[in-house]
Amino acid sequence: GEKWVLMKTAQTPTNIAVIKYWGKRDETLILPVNDSISVTLDPAHLCTTTTVAVSPAFQQDRMWLNGKEISLSGGRYQNCLREIRKRAREVEDKERGIKIEKKDWAKLHLHIASYNNFPTAAGLASSAAGFACLVFALAKLMNVSEDESQLSAIARQGSGSACRSLFGGFVKWIMGKEDDGSDSLAVQLVDEKHWEDLFIIIAVVSSRQKETSSTSGMRESVETSSLLQHRAKEVVPKRTIQMEEAIQNRDFASFAKLACADSNQFHAVCLDTLPPIFYMNDTSHRIISYVEKCNRSEGTPQVAYTFDAGPNAVLIARDRKAAAQLIQRLLFYFPPKSDTDLDSYLLGDKTILKDAGLEGLKDVEALS
Ligand code: PMV
Repeated sequence: GEKWVLMKTAQTPTNIAVIKYWGKRDETLILPVNDSISVTLDPAHLCTTTTVAVSPAFQQDRMWLNGKEISLSGGRYQNCLREIRKRAREVEDKERGIKIEKKDWAKLHLHIASYNNFPTAAGLASSAAGFACLVFALAKLMNVSEDESQLSAIARQGSGSACRSLFGGFVKWIMGKEDDGSDSLAVQLVDEKHWEDLFIIIAVVSSRQKETSSTSGMRESVETSSLLQHRAKEVVPKRTIQMEEAIQNRDFASFAKLACADSNQFHAVCLDTLPPIFYMNDTSHRIISYVEKCNRSEGTPQVAYTFDAGPNAVLIARDRKAAAQLIQRLLFYFPPKSDTDLDSYLLGDKTILKDAGLEGLKDVEALS
């Protein structure tokens, strides 16, 4: 048999929504009930690296995540693989005398190895970077000609939020109108150079895995929350326009107000769900009160907060100075547990992952 292997590697950062996606109108195609907007993190932090390989020697499609084999039988993987295979084109490596014709792709099997550069158990979104990276790497391997937006519609079928990780900077996922999902895709609003002052700090409040997955949480909210209906119809459409304006104008005061309000409404929808879903914990709430208090005392907001389907705080500081002050204060008011190794903190240039072991917080008074 033939002995060759052809490989491609891609790297994709995760993204954090500042206008949240919560609720699907179609669960199979993953079509949302509202538009969402996110910021893509610096690839040096919180990113996935995926290598995809094809060889006539491979007997079946297989995938390894952080070195451990995982099943590809789930619908989400199957949808992504099918959609990308459909678009595969001829690939030729003249030097090595390898030629894969368009029709060959249907019979060839893939091996996929994916790594997260952050602890998967840290409760930080990994599916967003993961599916975006998988689709992007496969598109490169198979010489797919579709652009990033078209690829985002494929990544969306792996995990909704993944469609926004195909671009850097600020990204909008347009919900679309079509039933087949062809117009539910991501577009770049501004690239990563547009608003370089921003600093993103992730405070890991708890590294436990969330109790309610986003999939079942969304389903329960869509079925039982009237606030979700109101949010999708009356609130998000206007808020999305205002957020786009704030981003274009680098208007931090508006940006912070909108991002915080949207995070809070998303968690209010969770509370309005039957049975209620609690993603934030006491520490999350204390961080919110603390940031609100600081912003009020400064006169103009210095920091925005946003929380996804878990208790960890994503804090967006207006500039390096505000970020430095925030970290100092966080360490003071939320001291790390004694067994937390300060040197093991990951400090980056634009994105800072702080595992401050915030569960250890005892000093509630300090914040009130
Ligand atoms: O793409 P999913 O199924 O992991 O859902 C993500 C949902 C939130 O993170 C809470 C919001 C968002 O827009 O990313």
